[in-house]
Amino acid sequence: MSDRKPPRRAKGRPLARRRTVGKATLATLAALAREARERAQARYSGFKVGAALKTRTGEIVTGCNIENASYGLTMCAERVAVFKAVSEGFADFDAIAVVTASKRLTPPCGPCRQILWEYCGDIAVQMADLRGHARTVRLSELLPFPFDAGHL
Ligand code: THU
Repeated sequence: MSDRKPPRRAKGRPLARRRTVGKATLATLAALAREARERAQARYSGFKVGAALKTRTGEIVTGCNIENASYGLTMCAERVAVFKAVSEGFADFDAIAVVTASKRLTPPCGPCRQILWEYCGDIAVQMADLRGHARTVRLSELLPFPFDAGHL
């Protein structure tokens, strides 16, 4: 018997809201994230990232990383996508794709995981590269013991 506990989730977010996302949808998301990556402003790191975030009703909002000469002001592609989407009134997300040209698939950084958890819950996170390699995990696998509104 496994001693793994079920994933923790934000207060008031029932498990029924967890949805699986089909292969075709993931492929579309990866393609849009790849396009968004081309708009990355990564003149300092040279590391371009694209993201595409999907609502459960099918709208897709993209993001790319945006760097600044004051390095700490840099914003990751995932957070750009989340903030764009939330500011446009979108909610209820079910998947995000993150695309880089890295040899290793790129997972969202720690702060992005926290923001994703707060605004998207336990969504599917697809990591993909430019060669067509991809892997999809749940956000709860990347952030297994999250701090959230349920602790306040
Ligand atoms: N970056 C992202 O956009 N998303 C991630 O998940 C990892 C890091 C960006 C931030 C910075 O512009 C560059 O990649 C190198 O860290």
